[in-house]
Amino acid sequence: MDISGVKPRANSAEDILASAAFRSDLDGLNRAILASLTAAGEPAVINGNVLYANNVETFETAGFSDIMAAKRGALVAMAQRSRAFVEVGVAGGHAVLLALHANPDLRVVGIDLAQRLRPFWPAVEVFVPAAAAWLEARFPDRFRLIKANAVDGLREVAQTRPIGAVDMLHLDGGKDGRMAELEAIWPALAPRAWLMQGDYAHGLVREATAEMIARGLARDVSDPTFPVLRDKRFRVVETGQAVPGESLRLPDFDGKRVLICTAHQDDEVLFAGGLLSEIAPRAEVTLACFFRPAPGRDDTATRMAAMARVCAALGVGHVQYPFAVEGRSRALRRFISLPSEPEELRARPRRALARHPLFALLSATAEGAMHLYAPDIVITHNEVGEYGHREHVLLHHAVRRAAARAGVRTLLTFGVGMAGAGLTITPDPEAKRALFAPYLPQWDGVARYEFALAPERFLRLPLFAVTAS
Ligand SMILES: C[S@@+](CC[C@H](N)C(=O)[O-])C[C@H]1O[C@@H](n2cnc3c(N)ncnc32)[C@H](O)[C@@H]1O
Repeated sequence: MDISGVKPRANSAEDILASAAFRSDLDGLNRAILASLTAAGEPAVINGNVLYANNVETFETAGFSDIMAAKRGALVAMAQRSRAFVEVGVAGGHAVLLALHANPDLRVVGIDLAQRLRPFWPAVEVFVPAAAAWLEARFPDRFRLIKANAVDGLREVAQTRPIGAVDMLHLDGGKDGRMAELEAIWPALAPRAWLMQGDYAHGLVREATAEMIARGLARDVSDPTFPVLRDKRFRVVETGQAVPGESLRLPDFDGKRVLICTAHQDDEVLFAGGLLSEIAPRAEVTLACFFRPAPGRDDTATRMAAMARVCAALGVGHVQYPFAVEGRSRALRRFISLPSEPEELRARPRRALARHPLFALLSATAEGAMHLYAPDIVITHNEVGEYGHREHVLLHHAVRRAAARAGVRTLLTFGVGMAGAGLTITPDPEAKRALFAPYLPQWDGVARYEFALAPERFLRLPLFAVTAS
């Protein structure tokens, strides 16, 4: 079994290329391409692809290009381990045809702009629609073309999900937008998916791939049965929604700068006391707390000092920002709906959170902290506010925007209230209990929250490039 649970099939790329069924379809596809070019008065020339070299005249009679043999093998191996394939850059549909033959259960969406963006390009506006029409007629339930630029087409797939969760991706169109392309399809990706980067010789494609790996969005393939994973022209990596969560381990904190952004004094112990105890000796950790205590609490006057004592005990730095006051933003209800609320309440449109009076302030403050402390890793609240605390949700979004703007690559959220795998820390109960002590007797976290001494989970969020949400 492979990463997506699909059993690999045995046929090699060579077997498929030599088969009568493939030859017959290839002949039909090439005829359709040639007929369209001839009718348009264009030379019989198409883009390079998995079968033929670039701009070869009479490609249909040229042999299969040797330099693409490894890429064909990898494409077939991916197809045989997948169910739903999206390709950007369909051109003559040769990679699509090979994948469809490699796995009869595979369904494919192709995306191609089909416009000659450069004068020296072959007549893509002519032969791409013709090739796609032939494929759509030959494989009516298994192939369709979206004629659009890469990001728009991928967003459409992410919204409409025409083939379900996507577990195979071939990015083979433009070279300068691969990160944005991954971001566009991300919501529709399966937990684990194969990503083939075409044109890997191009510097921007290599850079984008390295950045995807650094951000935990992709990783090297671990399947030892997979054939060749890369050469000059292509590279296969694993991606998918589960990949970021699986990409961080405790040793990854060693020697790093960590900024933990919390709404209230005590959140640092409640959600991350065990993690902080683990990483404080091996990383440079700063706690930034964004709300001052609400007036009228038993511990209004003592909470900030209690947090300072916790940080001193842990050996981490801290900063308390003065701008926001806990419980003062009653209007938050109009901006944030919680999963725990009845459906009719949740369905009611809420105002854009970015328009909340505190949002810009919190976000700018968080971004300032990120520039000041230059963290490798940022940790904050999650999008459901753990147990449904709206100020946690507000801070989550403010920090998330700040992290995107500041170029942070690793953003973790607390796991309470969220599903999904991530880094799990099992705190020593007595050690964690001791961290709650400075807040006693006014605030007893252990008595108040049933998860207070339970294992702590941290989920890594997918952070793409500099485009803030
Ligand atoms: C090298 S060919 C693809 C070959 C094909 N994947 C194969 O192996 O058979 C590149 C294709 O990408 C398309 N393309 C280039 N830039 C694009 C973009 N920004 N969005 C969508 N398609 C694009 C071109 O129209 C062209 O058909």
